[in-house]
Amino acid sequence: MATLIEQKYIAAHPGSAQRHEKAKHMFPNGVTHDARRQNPFQLYYTHAMGPHKYDVDGNEVIDFWSGHGSLILGHSHPEIVTAVQQQMAKGTHLSGSTDLEIRWGELVREMIPSAEKVRFHSSGTEADMMAIRMARAYTEKSKIIKFEDHFHGWSDYLSADADGIGGIPKEALETVIVLPPNDISLIEQTLQDNDDIAAIILEPTGAHMGLEPILPAFLEELREVTTKFGVVLIFDEVVTGFRISDGGAQSYYGVTPDLTTLAKILGGGLPGGAVCGKAEIINMIEPRDDADFNKNRRIAHNGTFNANPLSASSGIKALEILKRDPINEKAIRMGNLLKRSLNEVLSKQEIPGCVSGVNSLIHIRLGTDHDCDHEICMLSKEDMGKTTNSIRNAQLNLALLNNGVHSGTRFIMSAFHTERDIAKTAEAFGNALTDVRAEGLI
Ligand SMILES: Cc1ncc(COP(=O)(O)O)c(C=O)c1O
Repeated sequence: MATLIEQKYIAAHPGSAQRHEKAKHMFPNGVTHDARRQNPFQLYYTHAMGPHKYDVDGNEVIDFWSGHGSLILGHSHPEIVTAVQQQMAKGTHLSGSTDLEIRWGELVREMIPSAEKVRFHSSGTEADMMAIRMARAYTEKSKIIKFEDHFHGWSDYLSADADGIGGIPKEALETVIVLPPNDISLIEQTLQDNDDIAAIILEPTGAHMGLEPILPAFLEELREVTTKFGVVLIFDEVVTGFRISDGGAQSYYGVTPDLTTLAKILGGGLPGGAVCGKAEIINMIEPRDDADFNKNRRIAHNGTFNANPLSASSGIKALEILKRDPINEKAIRMGNLLKRSLNEVLSKQEIPGCVSGVNSLIHIRLGTDHDCDHEICMLSKEDMGKTTNSIRNAQLNLALLNNGVHSGTRFIMSAFHTERDIAKTAEAFGNALTDVRAEGLI
């Protein structure tokens, strides 16, 4: 039996419901990305502009998914549209080198502190796969340490502790050691006990875009310990790169990893990825005057759309705008306003929880009364379990959509969300909480 929230959702979205009926026979669950699975059905959108998008039934929503994190400039920024249109007319794939890739690489090197050298890919998954392969080839060691719940795309190795590991050989998973974060003595002990570790990889603000935070001091400790043991430190800045600060989390926290992976904002809204970092590690791709090295240690790297001119033109424009305008400052200011406004709603309705997060990555944590500075909110495992109650959060997601907000429990800010958008979001949040409470879930 559908809840009242679901009934309202179904009534407001007949066009999406109809499309879902067709799509479910074509795609698993009717969708093309696991994170887009949604009961009773996903919405179908037609177009978007700035922080707003529009569905097939003519509903306008304020968008806090922001292109899965790639759109810090909002949807269809006019300068990016022009850059891509112009490049489209000049060619989308020239099967050779272009000035565009040089400019794109230059911008990465100027903005990301660890970037001595760069190699482009088409996605974050590929970039992360390449980073661990580079670390393995460079150190001639085989194991990787990753942290619980940290997401590094869907490659075999880095899915080690994820759900849905069907089809991955256990031998691949056994080469990855999964540890809880923020415990440097555990890391040091593991490195002491095991001399076959090539790299440590992490999301520098924590799992799920900072939902389970990393303490900044832990980044510094990791830097020290990995240097001491000769282990490659990899920051997965697929989300945090060019967000958190223009130079990513590494610049914000002043900790420089050996390798960094980038995607999302890097491509300005089109597909793009990169590994950058220490030249001597990135150079594991370069053939040498050494047949044995070339056969057994060099890393082969192809990829039809690496540094393709369309993604490059869009990525260049996005990074140039970030350098020229106070984009992160604005996204952070709007993020702070959002946190204040939503926390006021929670106190007014006397609902335990908080809205917190670092800079422009913000999370709702419902169901637990706790002290928190609304920046780095550390919860016990038990409290974390309460905040991630999937039945309540799914209803909250639909109730927010019914009220014109696409966020779920996470808000990825752009610099183009306005004070008006935030005020409307706070009102929608209040209404949605009332609806969820009426279902007996709060
Ligand atoms: C931290 C992190 N790393 C890697 C990836 C994978 O990137 P992509 O979806 O471009 O393959 C994601 C995607 O959300 C991510 O959040």
